[in-house]
Amino acid sequence: VTFQVNYGEPIAPIQPTMYGIFFEDINFAADGGIYAEMVKNRSFEFDLPMIGWLQPNSDRFSMNEKSGFASVIKTDSDEPNANFLRVEVKADNGYVLRNEGFKGMGVKKDLQYNFSMMARNQSGDIKMHIQLADSTGKVLGKTTIDPDASEWKEYTSSFTATSEEMKAVLNIQFEGKGVIDLDMISLFPSDTWKNRPKGMRADLVQLLDDLDPGFLRFPGGCIVEGRNLARRYQWKKTVGSIEDRTTLVNRWNTEFAHRPAPDYYQSFGLGFFEYFQLAEDMGAEPLPILSCGIACQFNTGELVPMDELGPYVQDALDLIEFANGDSNTAWGKVRADMGHPQPFNMKYIGVGNEQWGPQYIERYKAFEAAIKSKYPDMIIVSGSGPFPDGEMFDYGMKELKKLGAEIIDEHYYRSPEWFLENADRYDSYDRNGPKVFAGEYAAQTVAIASPDNKNSWMTALSEAAFMTGLERNAEVVHLTSYAPLMAHSEGWQWTPDLIWFNNLSSYGTPNYYVQKLFSTNRGTHVLSLTENGKPVTGEKKLYATAAKDENTGEVIFKIVNASSDEQNTQFKLNGIDGLASKGRLTVLKSDKTDVVNSFESPVAIAPEEQEIALKGNELTVNLAPYSLSVIRVKTV
Ligand code: AHR
Repeated sequence: VTFQVNYGEPIAPIQPTMYGIFFEDINFAADGGIYAEMVKNRSFEFDLPMIGWLQPNSDRFSMNEKSGFASVIKTDSDEPNANFLRVEVKADNGYVLRNEGFKGMGVKKDLQYNFSMMARNQSGDIKMHIQLADSTGKVLGKTTIDPDASEWKEYTSSFTATSEEMKAVLNIQFEGKGVIDLDMISLFPSDTWKNRPKGMRADLVQLLDDLDPGFLRFPGGCIVEGRNLARRYQWKKTVGSIEDRTTLVNRWNTEFAHRPAPDYYQSFGLGFFEYFQLAEDMGAEPLPILSCGIACQFNTGELVPMDELGPYVQDALDLIEFANGDSNTAWGKVRADMGHPQPFNMKYIGVGNEQWGPQYIERYKAFEAAIKSKYPDMIIVSGSGPFPDGEMFDYGMKELKKLGAEIIDEHYYRSPEWFLENADRYDSYDRNGPKVFAGEYAAQTVAIASPDNKNSWMTALSEAAFMTGLERNAEVVHLTSYAPLMAHSEGWQWTPDLIWFNNLSSYGTPNYYVQKLFSTNRGTHVLSLTENGKPVTGEKKLYATAAKDENTGEVIFKIVNASSDEQNTQFKLNGIDGLASKGRLTVLKSDKTDVVNSFESPVAIAPEEQEIALKGNELTVNLAPYSLSVIRVKTV
């Protein structure tokens, strides 16, 4: 097969935002995942306030209450973090309080762990022995705290673990007798991302950073909208000191989740400041999405009346001030006080997730008017219906187009066949209308979010084929991201997912490596690549796109061979004096399309690199069966 490539006249720039990431707190991606807090329900704010906490040798219900007992005291429930724990210790060394962590606690040998808590001694003299222990009770690391102050005070102490354990628990053994109040009981590993205290799990952030994402969309998904409006994501409740953030039941908790998780809450230790900071760390554009006053359509679909939309719109305006305002502004000062006096330079804001219909359009207009009148340069990302192509999807598109919407977020969770068949989806898309944000997509082996879906090589390969179409249409497709991003192997509600992790380790799926190859080989301009004058979108089961990188003077090819046979391809380039005699070929391949990566075989599918030789302006490559090949060659 011979491809013609026109290097001299690029079709369009490829936006730096072309390949990004979409973070949602689903599948325990935040609490229990990237947010490294090891204690579940550290501030006793869950609806059942002792979730996560056990009193293994308490005689709480025996009437004797010999050793002691703990109960949660509720103060003013309108306050954030209103609850605390009161512990009455009756027998010296008899009473133990245990936290089970998120599916246990992952402990690494020789690593330092940092414990902290708020305490108020009510009476008596109590010492607290803090211990990480395995399931046999073996102590893996310990420290002691002597909380003697009669007013609330923070106590901290560190210790080093002596061995590794995937499912440790935190035991707090009380010595002495008396009554003590406790809150914000917290344990973090010291090896967090950038060593930030109370920060994020470094292995997981590293996997994200390795994707070199052009943007970070946050905080969701359905969690933005909430099951009802009262439970929507409210960014203002996620900033400031962590003890003042209001815990919220996660939308992926029980009802309407494919796998219920009654212990799934959001502590917001990972809140909007941390998301902006993460985006900055990775050199990605921050892209927050806010509730537009409509709850999740899969749940209540509750609507805020138009005359009560004001606070929602104000949240958007205040968010822009939080991100970009100087420290003389009210919200800019909140950011500065959190340690970031410089603005975050936010350029994009999303209004509503997966919303459509007249109700959405009406509310979107109110947001647009308010945002554009105060911040005319802010780029607004609008939503669309959950599955492309249908009456409501088309209605939303038509109306948004009439309004001159800038970017529309489309979501597709479809079969691998759909992805293969739709690589030409944007070939005839209106070049003068709104730009495309392919904001959530993933090939599903069984059915949307089926627990039996697998991150098989076929799903990844079909996404790669589709992505050649996204890149070929970089003129209109400005942002793209796979979804969902992360999943705890014991705590997930949705498959497939890009990255899987447990309490100690993590791995990228074949889909992850597809994303990585596209993103790290983005290029600056898309080139025309044709076979017999036509784009390469599946005929002979080949899919291809070409780009140039103005910064490095390279031409970059991405080619998918979705057939079971090796295919010989030739690339002929116009508009260059010549090509270097050597180039680099990176291949993802397997002749078994059902192969997956796993904790045991984390790189069963992973990129393999080799040097290739070239002659003149031509390049000849044999494409392996079921493969994605990325070729970079310098022009001379
Ligand atoms: O990615 C999982 C969910 O899929 C998102 O929360 C939602 O936007 C979509 O329906």
